[in-house]
Amino acid sequence: MSLTLVTAGESHGPALVAILTGLPAGLELDRAKIDHDLLRRQQGYGRSPRQQIETDRVEVLTGLRQGRTLGTPLTLVVRNADHKNWLWGMSPWPPEGEPSGKGTKAVTLPRPGHADLAAVMKYDYDDVRNALERASARHTAVTVAAGGVAKALLAALAVTVSSETIEVGGAHGEAAMREAMDAAKTDRDTLGGVVEIRVDGLPPGLGSYVTKEERLDARIAWALMGIQAVKSVEIGDGLDLARRRGSLAHDEIFRDDEHGFYRRTNRAGGLEAGITDGEQLVVRCAMKPLPTLMKPLQSVDLATGEPAAALVERSDTAAVEAMAVIAEAVVAFELASAAKAKFGGDSIGDLLAAHAAYLARIDWRRP
Ligand SMILES: Cc1cc2nc3c(=O)[nH]c(=O)nc-3n(C[C@H](O)[C@H](O)[C@H](O)COP(=O)(O)O)c2cc1C
Repeated sequence: MSLTLVTAGESHGPALVAILTGLPAGLELDRAKIDHDLLRRQQGYGRSPRQQIETDRVEVLTGLRQGRTLGTPLTLVVRNADHKNWLWGMSPWPPEGEPSGKGTKAVTLPRPGHADLAAVMKYDYDDVRNALERASARHTAVTVAAGGVAKALLAALAVTVSSETIEVGGAHGEAAMREAMDAAKTDRDTLGGVVEIRVDGLPPGLGSYVTKEERLDARIAWALMGIQAVKSVEIGDGLDLARRRGSLAHDEIFRDDEHGFYRRTNRAGGLEAGITDGEQLVVRCAMKPLPTLMKPLQSVDLATGEPAAALVERSDTAAVEAMAVIAEAVVAFELASAAKAKFGGDSIGDLLAAHAAYLARIDWRRP
């Protein structure tokens, strides 16, 4: 059975939920590791005070017994601590009593760059909140938790996923990036940036050229573009390859007794024809500046049809470092899914045995 993931949850609703199916039985999960990724997603320079309200922790409702998967659907939950301030406004059932707390008034000031305007038209809403609660990136918390499960499966195969923020607002290097974020905050403005994800330990042969659904490059791009505010994805030398001659765009093949087959360059970023080639997977993705500005952009009040400033809702100055953690999670999920498709197995033991047999057949010599 292939690995599937569905997430649910609103930004200020009671909780965020992820259900994963197709996991092998017996995979050991470490709550502290998943919680650590949840903390990393909340940290990072430029984030809003919302992150101080929430201390995300993963809970498990189904599919896990004493730390090991049962091979049944795994249900992960991350509760929204802030929901206590929205009990009336975000009540799943018609609220009782007088309106109180947050979210009691309809939002009618759509923000450019968000789902707000198109969503009220599409879904026939009279309150932009009905859209922004789900369109917000808050629910990526549970995506990160699901990514933690995928990372555990990959770790069993000696595959590790890491990320780095390489650019914020056009600035490179820790000090310059912080300076750019401080300056944007002072101007009540926002920034975007670029992150790089690297994956080590992948054998050749994950993914396939056979259908576009199986192409790992396509799946990775799909997964990354599915993160809010991500506007472009690059694999390996990416866009730059289009500017080179073929003689400088590919990775020549070598072989020796120590390494078996290997490459001296990695311009393809570890993927050829949608299949891992045994080199490090290198992917970058770029995020646009966050659209909710403390100095709001021009909009129109949906209630009056008159010009008005867009909604100002508590918001980050930049969330590029957080996006890096989410990017790690979604890439890990796609790789775990490709590994499950390749090696199968109802139990983790069967999956590892198939992996070991495959590495032996292809005579793979690298750790
Ligand atoms: C980790 C993360 C945090 C975000 N925080 C905010 C925020 O505080 N304010 C905001 O306006 N947008 C924020 N965004 C971006 C919006 O969710 C996104 O721009 C919006 O949903 C429109 O999506 P699109 O750009 O993909 O069309 C965040 C995105 C991510 C990935």
